[in-house]
Amino acid sequence: MRMTDEELRHQALFRRLDAMMEADMPPGHVMTANPNAVARVVLGCSSWAVLALTLFVERFSQVHYRASVEPGEAICPLWRDVFLFHWREESQHTILDEMGFIREDARLDAPARDAAVGELIALLGALDGIVQGQAVADAAYFCAIAGMPPDALRRRRIEGLFLTAYRRRYLVSGFLAPRFRKLLFSRLDEAQAIRIRNAMAPLGYAVPRPLGAAGAMAA
Ligand SMILES: [Fe+2]
Ligand SMILES: [Fe+2]
Repeated sequence: MRMTDEELRHQALFRRLDAMMEADMPPGHVMTANPNAVARVVLGCSSWAVLALTLFVERFSQVHYRASVEPGEAICPLWRDVFLFHWREESQHTILDEMGFIREDARLDAPARDAAVGELIALLGALDGIVQGQAVADAAYFCAIAGMPPDALRRRRIEGLFLTAYRRRYLVSGFLAPRFRKLLFSRLDEAQAIRIRNAMAPLGYAVPRPLGAAGAMAA
């Protein structure tokens, strides 16, 4: 109950930040994901898959704070504070969600877990779809503001850079987080683990450089 309250508060907080940023941004920026459509997909899945996705999102939001906000000296203090307090609450959510995931996992037999793994893979694919749509929109916004002459090849390259950055932040960093991997993979048999690794393998190119040694995604 309290976690739901906190998440609603987080949403309100980030919407306010959105509005504050928008006031200073040139017009034309769009958010491409439809929150209702996302909610419909998520709500159609088993608790196991939803909890696994939740843990994944909590992990990448914590990694994001550690990697991008905490060490960023030029970041405005209000911005830093919002992410600091969000990070603190998410750290508590993770502990509770891990317990929930373990409880949920204990209720599943092998075929049910097999199905839930498929759902988790579909949810990660849906997340990648969201990121792809936003990358295209943000690249178009960037090109328009920069006043670039229409050049399809250059535009595609810029889209590629946005997409790599978003995949790194929203997919790969969560997947590489050791605590998430340990919890998830300790619950899977070899075939299930391979299915998840294979689904994530095409994103291996977006592994952050210091961790980018061959096989980081497969480890
Ligand atoms: Fe949150
Ligand atoms: Fe949370």
